[in-house]
Amino acid sequence: MPPRHPDQFDAAEERTLFEQLVALRKLLPYVWPADKPSYKVRAAVAIALVVSSQFFIVAAPFFIGEAQGSVQDAVSDGSAFGDAVAIIGFFLLAYGAMRLLSTAFSEAREYVFAPVAQLAQRRIATQTFAHLHQLGLRYHLAKRTGGLSRIIERGVRSIDFLFRFLLFNIGPTFLQLIIAGAALTVAYDAWFALIAVGIVVTYVAFTVVTTEWRLKFRREMNKRDTESWARAVDSLLNYETVKYFDAEEREVARYDAAMEAYAKAAVRSRTSLATVNIGQNFLMNTGIIAMMILAAERVLGGSMDTKDMFTITLLMSQLYRPLNILGFAYREIKQSLTDLERMFTLLDEEPEVRDAAHAGDIGSVQGRIEFEDVDFAYDDDRQILHGVSFTAEDGQTVAVVGPTGAGKSTLSRILYRFYDIAGGSVRIDGRDIRDVTQSSLRAAIGMVPQDTVLFNDTIGYNIAYARPDASQAEIEQAARDAQIHDFIAGLPKGYDTMVGERGLKLSGGEKQRVAIARTLLKDPAILILDEATSALDSATEVEIQGALSSAAKGRTTLVVAHRLSTIQDADLILVMEEGRIVERGTHEALLERGGLYAELWNRQGELEAA
Ligand SMILES: Nc1ncnc2c1ncn2[C@@H]1O[C@H](COP(=O)(O)OP(=O)(O)OP(=O)(O)O)[C@@H](O)[C@H]1O
Ligand SMILES: [Mg+2]
Repeated sequence: MPPRHPDQFDAAEERTLFEQLVALRKLLPYVWPADKPSYKVRAAVAIALVVSSQFFIVAAPFFIGEAQGSVQDAVSDGSAFGDAVAIIGFFLLAYGAMRLLSTAFSEAREYVFAPVAQLAQRRIATQTFAHLHQLGLRYHLAKRTGGLSRIIERGVRSIDFLFRFLLFNIGPTFLQLIIAGAALTVAYDAWFALIAVGIVVTYVAFTVVTTEWRLKFRREMNKRDTESWARAVDSLLNYETVKYFDAEEREVARYDAAMEAYAKAAVRSRTSLATVNIGQNFLMNTGIIAMMILAAERVLGGSMDTKDMFTITLLMSQLYRPLNILGFAYREIKQSLTDLERMFTLLDEEPEVRDAAHAGDIGSVQGRIEFEDVDFAYDDDRQILHGVSFTAEDGQTVAVVGPTGAGKSTLSRILYRFYDIAGGSVRIDGRDIRDVTQSSLRAAIGMVPQDTVLFNDTIGYNIAYARPDASQAEIEQAARDAQIHDFIAGLPKGYDTMVGERGLKLSGGEKQRVAIARTLLKDPAILILDEATSALDSATEVEIQGALSSAAKGRTTLVVAHRLSTIQDADLILVMEEGRIVERGTHEALLERGGLYAELWNRQGELEAA
């Protein structure tokens, strides 16, 4: 299966709204958590509160209608002032109470539901985050920086949005329409309900269609926004290059051009919104007027009272108020559903490297490594390793050398099981690494990668990352063994020095020694050292060499070496070229042979002499 780029979840956008709504059922286990009965009660109570609030809101206009009717009666009957006030007051109070109860009930659901919503968000976010760490290296290398974290962030935000709008805004409004329709039918006749429902349905259809039409303007706007932003960032990242070529004006002009395109799109988006608003308003008022005409006719015919006209107007305007934001809500709900689906797609992504069902703990490791006839490809169309076989006895140091791209670092990634191989087998102490758990395998191996990346934290934190429970003394001992302690101790803040993003505030050599120190603290049976390709000055090189040989002591060590001078004492040297081991033996034997190794050796000797 080819790895999917995390930014390519277009399938999510092609789905119809209905399909997406159906997919919402995946949220159910989170809002209705099996392990938390009290949260189920909360969710149920929240729904009940919202449903009741809609009954109150529909009831309110009838009371104010009665109040108005009482005023009329009082005027025409000439009843006592006190009596009239009492009756009118009662109806007005009842109206106020209905409105208040409606708001109170609908807001009260926050108290009961907020923890449910938060728990749902937290659980999904954590689960997705954990899942990301399960996915293979291949998957992570294919991602765009920040793309994955954005999927989580948006997915989680979308849940909040869906609750707020779908469950507690749009949903209740439709419920209100049904209740109001029923009330109109019972109190007056079905024609009123028919007009109310008809107009709302037309209103919704109009909003959906025009919002879809507006979407292309918004997309354009967003695209332009991203573009201008990307241009600004790229330009500032290349600050020095811009100066080298005296190109500030050009950069500003490019940025301005992007901003101009954005402005155009934004204007179109705004004006199209105005068009939609006018249309919505027209529909709404047509509805109210149609009902007024009908009511007026009934009043003249004597079957209805003028107070009923009052009730109907209020009932309808209450119904329309939440529909005001329907266009916005529709767009955001759609977006939220897409974001949510992206997150669920991420959750459904199968980890590439998985523990076998029978996988056990690797136990205590002696350190014998065997590669037997290993074939490997990162992508199916390009094989990288061809029948690689070698053995490192426990305690031995095996060095791998060869031109760039030969597949040296690939060997270490395979041993660490970042990838599974296509053919052959890799064994540790005679056990195939696919028969043990990844976690126990990785606990047995220490890796100092070619390009060390550090956490943006203190040096101490980065070293202790290997064993968070390590004491300061142990951390310092590891640093001493990696020959970096004196350097750290000489810094003004010592072990509390921040290393900067990805460790950029340290030099390449310092960073690598920090990486060696943290691997020493891990104290693994097997050590993989992937030498940095970048040339270090000879003093640093000697220090690193010292650190490396002390690290290798008593462990099986696989060294990927670029400077041949560093591996003359290795028990076995493998010379790789284009994914094959082309020569093997000790330093002396290989020199004597006069092949590729001897050639590389002589060339490096010349370079160093030069
Ligand atoms: N993630 C990847 N996806 C696809 N191809 C890859 C990937 N990583 C490495 N390769 C390819 O595999 C080949 C071997 O890469 P590898 O990193 O093992 O080389 P190397 O011997 O360590 O080189 P260097 O000395 O430059 O570190 C290279 O041709 C490289 O382009
Ligand atoms: Mg490499």
